[in-house]
Amino acid sequence: MTTATEELYQPPKVFLEQSNISNWMRQRGITGYDQLLERARNYEWYWAEMAKELAWFKPWDKTLEWKLPFSKWFVGAQFNIVHNALDRHMKTSTKNKVAYIWESEPGEVERWTYEQLWRETNRMANALKRLGVAKGDRVTIYLPMIPQLPIAMLACAKIGAVHSVVFSGFSSLALKDRIIDAESKVVITANATFRRGKAVALKANTDAAMTECPSVKNVIVVRRTQDAVTMQPGRDLWWDEAAKKESDQCDTVALDSEAILFTLYTSGTTGKPKGIVHVHGGYAVGTAATLKYVFDIKDKDIFWCAADIGWITGHSYIVYAPLMLGATSIMYEGAPDWPEPDRWWKILEREKVTILYTSPTAIRMHMKYGQQWAAKHNLSSLRLLGSVGEPINPEAWRWYYEHIGGNRCPIMDTWWQTETGCFLVSPLPITPLKPGSATKPLPGIDVDVVDSSGKPAPIGEGGFAVLKNPWPSMLRTIYKDPERYKQNYWSRWPGLYLTGDAAMKDEDGYIWFRGRADEVLNVAGHRLGTAEVESALVAHPAVAEAACIGVPHEVKGDVPKVYITLKIGQQPSEALVEELKKWVSTQIGPIARPEAIEFRDKLPKTRSGKIMRRLLKAQALGKEVGDISTLED
Ligand code: WT7
Repeated sequence: MTTATEELYQPPKVFLEQSNISNWMRQRGITGYDQLLERARNYEWYWAEMAKELAWFKPWDKTLEWKLPFSKWFVGAQFNIVHNALDRHMKTSTKNKVAYIWESEPGEVERWTYEQLWRETNRMANALKRLGVAKGDRVTIYLPMIPQLPIAMLACAKIGAVHSVVFSGFSSLALKDRIIDAESKVVITANATFRRGKAVALKANTDAAMTECPSVKNVIVVRRTQDAVTMQPGRDLWWDEAAKKESDQCDTVALDSEAILFTLYTSGTTGKPKGIVHVHGGYAVGTAATLKYVFDIKDKDIFWCAADIGWITGHSYIVYAPLMLGATSIMYEGAPDWPEPDRWWKILEREKVTILYTSPTAIRMHMKYGQQWAAKHNLSSLRLLGSVGEPINPEAWRWYYEHIGGNRCPIMDTWWQTETGCFLVSPLPITPLKPGSATKPLPGIDVDVVDSSGKPAPIGEGGFAVLKNPWPSMLRTIYKDPERYKQNYWSRWPGLYLTGDAAMKDEDGYIWFRGRADEVLNVAGHRLGTAEVESALVAHPAVAEAACIGVPHEVKGDVPKVYITLKIGQQPSEALVEELKKWVSTQIGPIARPEAIEFRDKLPKTRSGKIMRRLLKAQALGKEVGDISTLED
């Protein structure tokens, strides 16, 4: 496999001279990118330096306690991420700075200063306390992209409760499973939200989930639209009415740095989503440091991470890291191409956004609409761009660089996962870029590409991406399931964390991520387990067996395609195809809707009865099938 190493984009002089990372290096007498990576091989030193940039109630006794595969960072420290994200700004000029410029899909704009955000967080924290939510209790948050979403998260964290945000595009069934696993006491939702001009009934979804969630004592409902909803007396309360009763002062609880901040469910290779556990101290250090040094956040920046807070990208880079840095962020509620394909560029121009962070899927969508939509707007405020969620194809990279970044803005292709909490492989703004490569591991991070025996793969050859050292914002475990944590990430090769990604390292040490190497798809930058789609389908009365594979899609990266055998007496039909697509959509959410469904009399299986998805995939892509000696049928 060869790489286009000749296509190198050197960092602009302004970043070499004035970026946050250059200043940091200068203060320590570090003279270049390579030397920085070399010095940070002492990763405990590096992360302790990063941790010193945050405010601790009590400093740590020990930077790291590593009992493979369980890590503790900043051991013995007392900390709360909300003290860093809000409280400490009340003593500086950041108090009156705008934290969020929020735009709704219909077009209202709200500007929330740090002080306003802090006061509303305090009120909601007091409201939660009044409902009996205490330290360690779980709260499920099922909200769209409205200011109440970060406020609800911060309110939980402030009092030491654990939030579990469920993406508002998930179905009531997906919501129910996540509430049950978390055993949440309170659910926070909205009556409805807008998506492409249509109201989405979040409260109705929540009510449907609630029939099987005995742990939930109260539901707090944000009045987002005029839509009427049924409120169950004694259980349901309106956010505005609850908040109005409370004081806007609330103490932030000092927590152990290892106290759980949140769980976030993500797909794995089984049908059951995993509750990824992140903690206050280490997560704060990893996210704040990476945002500050990768995206070079300065006081005057207007940062736009155009993700949804329902995913890890939004947790880390719309909520916690920007707030800890006292940054101003854009938060937009709706679809990027609504009502016209230049909705984003309108916002970007009006607010003079300086840093834009989005996904290859979004970039490819804009490419398809054509460059004329961005060309109508003045995007010259931009100075830095970012990409996340999937490998970016060089063609999309170059389009983004030219038509959005005006051939002037370096692109930070950040590789990471829900589990890693923060970017792990990514350029800094002083790194020479190669389109399509996330470049090198960040300082303090050790990534390798290994072959199937766990030994380093030869340069230029494909293998599996693994992590060799712990890092502060790593997941601590899977909620209520430490065995699955060990099994899933640490059992394949001793001492190596399995990312699940295929990758290649080139002769310059640059890493090229190639997509998932396991039974997980990456649909429009979102993770989806093939087993989840299959188990949704076999729950349909007509379906006997189902096999899901990912097939490439021009815009979305991968999309699910399924093969189905029907129960005796059932007939394949176009109507059934439509019904099954809709079924998956309501069982999981619209992102899981299969692109294609094919009926088969039989599915190919191994002698032990496992469906050979690999074979189906090879057939679907018209590729060589490879070794099928274990095939039964
Ligand atoms: C998977 C993690 C991290 C936030 C969004 C997704 C893929 C992520 C990149 C990138 C190539 C990427 C990987 C990873 N991925 N960023 N820059 N280049 N692949 O979070 O749902 O936890 O998915 O997304 O396959 O394992 P997630």
